[in-house]
Amino acid sequence: MTSARKTYIIANWKMNFTPGEASLYLHRLQDRIDHIPRDMQIILAPSVISLQSLSLQINRRQFKLAAQNFNQNDYGAYTGEVSVTQLRGFVDYAICGHSERRYKFHETDKEIGEKVAAAIRNGLTPILCIGETAIERRNHETASSIYSQLAGGLHYVSEEDISKVIIAYEPVWAISSNKGARPANPGDIKEASDLIRKHISKIYGKDTAEEISILYGGSVNKDTAGGYLSIPGIDGLLIGNASLIADSFCAIVETAKGKINER
Ligand code: PGA
Repeated sequence: MTSARKTYIIANWKMNFTPGEASLYLHRLQDRIDHIPRDMQIILAPSVISLQSLSLQINRRQFKLAAQNFNQNDYGAYTGEVSVTQLRGFVDYAICGHSERRYKFHETDKEIGEKVAAAIRNGLTPILCIGETAIERRNHETASSIYSQLAGGLHYVSEEDISKVIIAYEPVWAISSNKGARPANPGDIKEASDLIRKHISKIYGKDTAEEISILYGGSVNKDTAGGYLSIPGIDGLLIGNASLIADSFCAIVETAKGKINER
């Protein structure tokens, strides 16, 4: 990890917690996590229904909020949808292309690219999730899957804006909610992050590839977080299941702080 890049610890709460539960949880986190180093950013991604109330409660110097999903159009006749234009007062980050959106809701690379563009247009930092499926890995299609998801997700991102994007490598087979999930090993993750930087370098140049933040997500817990944060080129973690329990999330934050202090 180069010292210029921040460490991101992101909690993806998915479709868990009522607004009341989310508020209690945040209260607990803000009580327990006092000092956060300047080069570390903790981001919480609650359900959309909790964003407004948490945005009033949150200490923004310590934590930031992210949208888990949004519609790529700013306004219009899209019943049931929420746009990033509507969310931007509440969140600073926006997750785009999570594998559950890709495979359970059939989002295409084109739509994900439009979401990344919408986030940037509205002044938010997109967190673009990419990662191969188990079948793609078995068929030796990891590199092509990563490249095509990057190409689609970054389709509308100019050279000027690429520094605003965070990439999260989340192999689908490692995400804890998937049947037969198993954590990725450091070698796989290093290989994927190298592929990502190589691709970014080809499109946007070597300096940009060095500067972009790449996170890992998939079955991270308090016992494995430190190992993942030690992988060269990995700048943080996107955590699902383990972020739902305050003890384990706080332990991961403490581990990340320890890693920063070791630098
Ligand atoms: P997990 O989820 O940590 O429960 O595997 C990660 C994610 O889906 O982003």
